[in-house]
Amino acid sequence: MARLLGNLSTTLLLSVALLLVVAYGFHGPLFGDGVGYANGVFRYLHVLCGIMWIGLLYYFNFVQIPTMPRVPAEMKPGVSKYIAPEALFWFRWAALFTVLTGLIVAMLSGYLVDALLLRSPFRLIGLGMWLALVMAFNVWFLIWPNQKKALGLVEADAETKARAATTAMLVSRTNTLLSLPMLYCMVTQGLLGGG
Ligand code: HEM
Repeated sequence: MARLLGNLSTTLLLSVALLLVVAYGFHGPLFGDGVGYANGVFRYLHVLCGIMWIGLLYYFNFVQIPTMPRVPAEMKPGVSKYIAPEALFWFRWAALFTVLTGLIVAMLSGYLVDALLLRSPFRLIGLGMWLALVMAFNVWFLIWPNQKKALGLVEADAETKARAATTAMLVSRTNTLLSLPMLYCMVTQGLLGGG
């Protein structure tokens, strides 16, 4: 057991095997259904990537940022040199794949353009998509470039580093602020309709 679960790759392989059993058990006859089943698969991938992205956003905002001031100076590099760069890797790529899979879901559902133009009855999901697009823009073009300076992944003097850290934190907070309404739009569009 420890050999299987002690290794993340084997754990994930097992999880995919279980996933295939569940998917085949419930939806085997739909596998050949083309766009209909693909929509379900992309919804699944979309939520998976979204969990990874927003999960890490919440890790930064609920755990790392509030705890850092209490971490003794000699231990801070453990976070800034090892944990944060790794977390930021998964964070930014999860954001990109959430956007791609989300756009694919909208396309397969036949309302991509209507939603982006906020046309009825896709105004709710359209709003959610725009909120999430702003958040993804923030990740790639504001948080990541500033974090690279703040964490010393690119050359910067002490003052630039401090300013970059503050900017990255405030943009990360902005994304946390946008995340609650964004998720409401995502989750309720299908069930309650979208205005
Ligand atoms: C630009 C980024 C995003 C786009 C384009 C997008 C697009 C979509 C679309 C089109 C749907 C289907 C709505 C429906 O017709 O029922 C959806 C559902 C959903 N999205 Fe997003 N989304 C994005 C970001 C996110 C993020 C960051 C999360 C965070 C977890 C998320 C979580 C969900 C969830 C949980 C659903 C419900 C799935 C379902 O009920 O089938 N999305 N999204």
